[in-house]
Amino acid sequence: PRYAIGLDVGGTKIAAGVTDAHGEVIAKITPRPCPASEQDAVLTAVLDVIEELRDPYGTAGGVGAIGVGAAGLVDWPQGRIRTAPNSGYRDVPLRALLQDATGLPTVVDNDANTACWAEYRLGHRAPYMAFLTVGTGVGGGVVLADRLFRGSSGIGTEIGHMVVDPYGSQRCGCGTVGCLEALASGTALGRYGGAAAALDPGGTLATLAGGASHVTGETVSAAALQGDPTALAQLERLGHWLGIGIATLVNLFDLQLIVLGGGAAQAGDPLLKPVRASFEHFVTARAHRELPDIVPARLATDAGWMGAALLALEAQGG
Ligand code: BGC
Ligand code: NA
Ligand code: ZN
Repeated sequence: PRYAIGLDVGGTKIAAGVTDAHGEVIAKITPRPCPASEQDAVLTAVLDVIEELRDPYGTAGGVGAIGVGAAGLVDWPQGRIRTAPNSGYRDVPLRALLQDATGLPTVVDNDANTACWAEYRLGHRAPYMAFLTVGTGVGGGVVLADRLFRGSSGIGTEIGHMVVDPYGSQRCGCGTVGCLEALASGTALGRYGGAAAALDPGGTLATLAGGASHVTGETVSAAALQGDPTALAQLERLGHWLGIGIATLVNLFDLQLIVLGGGAAQAGDPLLKPVRASFEHFVTARAHRELPDIVPARLATDAGWMGAALLALEAQGG
């Protein structure tokens, strides 16, 4: 097939579109909320999107495959979601369900894996690289020797659940205390910002959010862009933890490039600078290695669905 539909089924949003093997975007939906708890509701939402994107191209025979990047632990190549820390569903044979419902060949992979693959194919690329998505959760993708590394069953590279602070107090959605995700997700950023804004109810952050209790990761990033010191301090805190996680990844895999994606990465330098500083502080043998570049994702919020579509086309020999 020439085109594939790609979907990014995240912790809170579904993004999707149609692309060819070179990343030419043919169609795209405005990201919409994803039902987080009901398995049937998620399936219905996914099928609705597929119907919308398939219709104009179906008769032309253009769209011939579907790729999904799903937040959670996904068996590869079976495409079964085992569990998803930030969603209620368990044991969903999504690939089989979608193939049955649509008649189209389908692949289902972890959302950060698909985003990583899109960056590798169309954005920032290196033979040894990692991609971190910082949004509702923290996801990871790792390319080793120009291949996406998935582990023995597909559920590897769960970077967000690397434990960095086991004696801290922050419990992760997965149940463990001290996961990177608990301390360095967009959700955590919103929590940090909310607490700081509550201490300064007349400040920029609280005002911008319309009250301390409404502060989210996005409002913190927006306030930081206006130079608000309270917001900048929260991004520094996030960057500190991300740098620790990245240092361990680089220690393990000797990576050449780190790409940061997801909503929080759009904060830009106010996040990237503290990430780099923390990484350099914690990586081992710093004076005896080439430090990898740490850069923002080029594909921004399209990476997840585009990578899924590319994987779907590759699976069909495209
Ligand atoms: C999940 C990952 C996912 C990440 C980003 C984490 O909580 O465990 O599978 O990639 O969130 O969505
Ligand atoms: Na992954
Ligand atoms: Zn966790």
